[in-house]
Amino acid sequence: MQSFPFIPMLLSALFITAENTNPPNTPTAPTEYHTAPFIPATTSNGVCLCPDEWTGVTCSVANLCNEATVEGFEFPQTVIGWSAYSSQTCENTTNNADISKASTRCLYNNGRPEFDRIQKIECQITLENIQVNVTGSLDAVETEQLASSTQILTSRPEWLTASNITSAAQIVNTILSDSVNITEGTAVAAVTTISQLLTADPQQFPNESNAFGRLTQNLETFSANPNNNFSLVVQPRLVVLATQVPTAQTAGIQFSALSGTSNNFTTSRIQLKTNMSEISDTEIPSDVQIFIRLPDQIHKNSNISVGFVLYENDLLFESKAFKTSLNTRRMVISGTLGNVKAEHVTLRFIPMNVSNKSLHDFACVFWDYSLNDWSTVGCSKANLLTGSLQCTCNHTTNFAVLMSFREDHKYAESLTVFSIVGCTLSILGLILTVIFQIITRKSRKSAPTILLVNICVCMTMFYFLFLFGIEKPNKGNSTVSEKNVMLLSDRHQDSDKGACTALTALMQYFLLATFTWNTLYAVHIFILIRKTLSGPPSGVLLVSLVTGWGLPAVVVAISLGVAYRVDNPLGYRREEFCWLQALNQDGKFDFGKPIFWGFLLPVAVMLLLNTAVLIYFGFATCKKDPLLNSTKNTSMRKRFLSSFSLGVLLGLTWVLGYLVLSTEGTTNCIFSILFCVCNTTQGLQIFILFTVRTAYFRKTFFSAANSVSS
Ligand SMILES: *[C@@H]1O[C@H](CO)[C@@H](O)[C@H](O)[C@H]1NC(C)=O
Ligand SMILES: *[C@@H]1O[C@H](CO)[C@@H](O)[C@H](O)[C@H]1NC(C)=O
Ligand SMILES: *[C@@H]1O[C@H](CO)[C@@H](O)[C@H](O)[C@H]1NC(C)=O
Ligand SMILES: *[C@@H]1O[C@H](CO)[C@@H](O)[C@H](O)[C@H]1NC(C)=O
Ligand SMILES: *[C@@H]1O[C@H](CO)[C@@H](O)[C@H](O)[C@H]1NC(C)=O
Ligand SMILES: *[C@@H]1O[C@H](CO)[C@@H](O)[C@H](O)[C@H]1NC(C)=O
Ligand SMILES: *[C@@H]1O[C@H](CO)[C@@H](O)[C@H](O)[C@H]1NC(C)=O
Ligand SMILES: *[C@@H]1O[C@H](CO)[C@@H](O)[C@H](O)[C@H]1NC(C)=O
Ligand SMILES: *[C@@H]1O[C@H](CO)[C@@H](O)[C@H](O)[C@H]1NC(C)=O
Ligand SMILES: *[C@@H]1O[C@H](CO)[C@@H](O)[C@H](O)[C@H]1NC(C)=O
Ligand SMILES: *[C@@H]1O[C@H](CO)[C@@H](O)[C@H](O)[C@H]1NC(C)=O
Ligand SMILES: *[C@@H]1O[C@H](CO)[C@@H](O)[C@H](O)[C@H]1NC(C)=O
Repeated sequence: MQSFPFIPMLLSALFITAENTNPPNTPTAPTEYHTAPFIPATTSNGVCLCPDEWTGVTCSVANLCNEATVEGFEFPQTVIGWSAYSSQTCENTTNNADISKASTRCLYNNGRPEFDRIQKIECQITLENIQVNVTGSLDAVETEQLASSTQILTSRPEWLTASNITSAAQIVNTILSDSVNITEGTAVAAVTTISQLLTADPQQFPNESNAFGRLTQNLETFSANPNNNFSLVVQPRLVVLATQVPTAQTAGIQFSALSGTSNNFTTSRIQLKTNMSEISDTEIPSDVQIFIRLPDQIHKNSNISVGFVLYENDLLFESKAFKTSLNTRRMVISGTLGNVKAEHVTLRFIPMNVSNKSLHDFACVFWDYSLNDWSTVGCSKANLLTGSLQCTCNHTTNFAVLMSFREDHKYAESLTVFSIVGCTLSILGLILTVIFQIITRKSRKSAPTILLVNICVCMTMFYFLFLFGIEKPNKGNSTVSEKNVMLLSDRHQDSDKGACTALTALMQYFLLATFTWNTLYAVHIFILIRKTLSGPPSGVLLVSLVTGWGLPAVVVAISLGVAYRVDNPLGYRREEFCWLQALNQDGKFDFGKPIFWGFLLPVAVMLLLNTAVLIYFGFATCKKDPLLNSTKNTSMRKRFLSSFSLGVLLGLTWVLGYLVLSTEGTTNCIFSILFCVCNTTQGLQIFILFTVRTAYFRKTFFSAANSVSS
């Protein structure tokens, strides 16, 4: 379509629905933070984003353990730091059919990556068993065994049920809250378990917003525990970092992470800087950065323990206030100091990419455990020129950025010269026709005059509205607000300002009215044929007036009542221009939308009625021809001709519209062009058929022309 610049885009848009502006959302897949996983990906500043398995400036350094057999168990190729699960699985007669029998971890030991010692599970054990047995009184070895069993039992996250997730979360919670006997192996198994839970089916997560409150709180406290026997655990969906920082040398600590093209975290993409005075961009790109400013009046020459926890998504933070309808997920990060209060915390997030949507606004929030929801208290925000979203908060805890997105609408092009000329000529033609009909009304009965005048008036109104109104008066162009206020949804919808909806309703009304009057005209002809000699019964005029102006009003009222809401006007009209909504959220034509049942369907019924009358009329005149006297016959023929003309005009034009809807490719293009040409010049055609062709007009016109020339 766009390749034909002369096509009046807007007129064709009344019918053509193929312009796909809304992306189809895959309902289950979480929105990716990154686009296609090309390898290696290069960012705008020329830094390589390596695939998970490779690292280094040119992505040539292996970041993986090759597949290997350890103690008779086969393990696949695995990224350094991640866990591997054996290809030997529990027999399918046991409780844990198809779950790996053993796990290990790929570590960088003795200068090269290799698999660590292995952990095995009993094939009959279940999460419920472990949940009963895990208590604070276990020794370190037993605890580690239970922790690694839990990890293996959750190694196929896609199989986890809601009760499995709850059990696993409670086991990890108990292990973490009893930090005394935790070995490094236990900590790694616990963190890996949570990481695996974060890839489970979101539908299986409990609906209560406080379900994981204790777990995330324990993890946060645990990360800043000075007795920790581990420093960094990086799993695909969760990073936990615990460190000791000498306060004498630093004003602040900065942690940054990049999830890369895969949404997975790897050790090579985590950076910690312990000697910073303010937040600053890192050499390698990062999705999230957090900077903790230490208090000034801190005892020098002491060590301070710092913990960071980074969640790849917010499944453990179920918000009631913030609704996600675009399947977006947010990273959640916590930064905690062991035993002092932070001066302030600064965060930077890269806005996520949502296809065919652009960022509308964002809010800097923290998880308020007393509310069990996100809160903005104590946080402020800034939209940086570099494109990242910056937050500053006066306390530490779990932070996130809530983002809302609006549709990237392709606003309709301006009216073309063609459609302006076509519409203007039509309006002139219609006005002349009305004047002519009124002047010459005496030569006709009153009913046809009123019907034709009403048709012309409705069409004129439609053309006026179309010329001045269809282009959206205020095209959506909002900017990020300055105040840090809570957002309610990740999908932003401008509330209705009224003008566009009013225009749509009026255009729907007058176009429907045009068809209604046209149908009344046909009915009128039908009555004339049936009662060839007498005129139409009295009262028909009144009924016509009520139907002609009332029926369209009823349809418009129903359409508005069913489809329109002030906070979501797009159920009724489109956003790109002021006309009835035709598409669903996936950009597909939807029979439930008002353009179908509030416009196309009534018009189709009326067109069918008109066609039926025309066919009937054709047969009736042919059959009765010999019986009628010649003058009746001619007047009948004339009527037939004029009603046929009108039927052709309105009917064929809009039948073309239906063809536009149901065809594709070149045929569609031809029909579109024909539709637009017929449509914009309809008023002109009516003028020619009903005015120029009449004998009276020609006589007047020629006498006027003669007097001018002489
Ligand atoms: C985004 O819009 C373009 C054109 O409007 C379309 O081709 C593309 O498929 C859309 N993307 C998605 C993910 O729907
Ligand atoms: C988002 O998409 C734009 C262009 O489509 C790209 O330049 C940018 O790097 C993407 N951002 C992320 C975080 O992937
Ligand atoms: C056990 O699994 C194997 C292969 O996975 C399959 O061939 C076999 O039928 C299964 N046995 C039972 C009892 O389900
Ligand atoms: C997961 O839950 C199901 C019931 O919902 C149970 O049958 C199964 O044993 C559980 N899996 C594990 C590993 O505990
Ligand atoms: C739980 O503990 C009991 C005894 O304390 C032991 O017999 C049982 O094997 C344990 N179960 C698991 C799953 O470890
Ligand atoms: C730690 O383990 C020892 C046995 O190794 C046990 O006696 C002790 O109670 C455990 N400590 C705690 C706090 O559970
Ligand atoms: C933690 O590490 C310290 C030494 O680094 C060791 O003495 C202690 O036993 C370890 N604790 C556990 C539970 O492994
Ligand atoms: C959460 O609620 C939704 C509907 O509100 C329901 O379909 C889903 O099963 C619930 N999930 C759980 C784990 O209860
Ligand atoms: C991310 O890691 C998971 C393993 O946890 C893996 O299954 C998935 O393929 C990874 N994603 C990509 C894009 O590599
Ligand atoms: C910390 O940074 C300052 C300058 O920014 C530098 O002078 C100092 O040596 C650094 N200290 C350490 C321990 O790196
Ligand atoms: C701080 O930690 C370092 C090791 O990271 C240790 O050598 C030093 O003694 C500690 N200082 C204090 C005051 O605890
Ligand atoms: C953070 O700021 C909020 C409001 O700006 C204030 O109510 C709160 O007391 C502050 N909290 C801290 C720890 O300073």
